[in-house]
Amino acid sequence: MPAIVLVGAQWGDEGKGKATDLLGDRVDYVVKFNGGNNAGHTVVVGGERYALHLLPSGILTPGCIPVIANGVVVDLSVLFSEIEALQGRGVDCSRLLVSANAHVIPSYNRTFDKVVERFLGSRRLGTTGRGIGPTYADKMNRVGVRIQDLFDEHILEQKVASALDQKNHLLVKVYNRRAIGAAEVVEDLLSYVDRLRPMVRDTGLELNRALDDDRVVLFEAGQATMLDVDHGTYPFVTSSNATSGGACTGSGIPPNRIDRVIAVVKAYTTRVGEGPFPTELHDADGERLRDVGGEYGVTTGRPRRCGWYDAVIARYAARVNGVTDFVLTKLDVLSGMERIPVCVGYDVDGVRHDEMPLTQTDFHHARPVYTYLDGWAEDISSARRFSDLPPNARAYVTALEQLSGARISVVGVGAERDASVVRHDLLG
Ligand code: GDP
Ligand code: IMO
Ligand code: MG
Repeated sequence: MPAIVLVGAQWGDEGKGKATDLLGDRVDYVVKFNGGNNAGHTVVVGGERYALHLLPSGILTPGCIPVIANGVVVDLSVLFSEIEALQGRGVDCSRLLVSANAHVIPSYNRTFDKVVERFLGSRRLGTTGRGIGPTYADKMNRVGVRIQDLFDEHILEQKVASALDQKNHLLVKVYNRRAIGAAEVVEDLLSYVDRLRPMVRDTGLELNRALDDDRVVLFEAGQATMLDVDHGTYPFVTSSNATSGGACTGSGIPPNRIDRVIAVVKAYTTRVGEGPFPTELHDADGERLRDVGGEYGVTTGRPRRCGWYDAVIARYAARVNGVTDFVLTKLDVLSGMERIPVCVGYDVDGVRHDEMPLTQTDFHHARPVYTYLDGWAEDISSARRFSDLPPNARAYVTALEQLSGARISVVGVGAERDASVVRHDLLG
């Protein structure tokens, strides 16, 4: 079972980092194939908490080769500060590989991300302000700067100058800012070249060869299905393909090599930033989920919006990604609730929907149709086998499994690496 894709089923922060880490030493490569340092993954190992943004979660597993593939956008200052911080804590980062085709986030795109959000005012998306959207836009506009351009100073100067030619008009005339000089951008980018050089590879070639040799490769998505630029709640999405298809375009491995697709899904739902969210709670239950679940962004520290589990979204994620297994996380957060609502469909202006509505307008108007499941009072954080869970917790998992379109193979009961109930081996 060598090629495994791991995605988020909801709006991110499902616990993908922990799930990747759980597979840990049984995986030879962990590949980040989309997004950049907009991601925030918390991994807890032996009481130590690690917050990863740009580096793949596999960096924490000795022997595992972490790969930043072509579909990623790389902020070089973040890359090296994250590496330095981890090395300072004794984590070996020397195995990291970076694709020559990955795009870099030049400093001007961080500026644009923030300036545009401010300009939009109440119409803003609530981005992470890391320059992700402008950098993917440059990629599609064919004015992006790639990692490999840093090794040809002449080309780099040309590319930065021509990108800024257009951008400075916008900055000065539309956004009322100062123009940015090409020379300072080039100088900044070149300052990373010597440290970057040893990591840069044709990662598509390396990964295909690894699969030829029966190595286990895990493709780890940043963000999630509902934030995917094609399949999410556009325009309230990120600017990359966070669904399983993105693993192919984002890394250079073909679809027929993928053996398994794991989706991580929270036992309730959260979202950061703007956009529709049918099961969102604005009451004490929502605050309880935020407090007990520690639902504050790893990247921006923003409180996450919280709501009940939405099986329409889980089914949609199962279909779009071809999910073979769900990892259900944070079941422990629901302990102590008398009854737990689960959204099984939507009411859109009096019409029942069992699937995602056709239009965003309808999705904005979707009112959840709930079924109510009995809760449990016990602390479940020490459960390691399914039979250790109280009957109502087992019934909650089984009901979600029936509603969500794929088996639930792992249930998370705490943040620590081993705080999981494994029902089916994810690699078996
Ligand atoms: P990611 O972006 O998908 O990797 O998820 P985040 O790291 O942003 O958010 C998930 C949070 O939940 C982190 O703080 C994890 O340590 C924590 N977590 C993951 N799984 C569980 C679980 O089963 N129970 C609890 N209580 N916390 C968990
Ligand atoms: P992980 O990998 C949750 C959200 C932002 C914003 C929208 C666009 O930790 O699950 P962007 O900066 O990407 O242009 O912002 O997407 N967003 C995330 N929300 N988890 C993430 O990553 C996210 N990455 C981006 O809040 O609404
Ligand atoms: Mg996160």
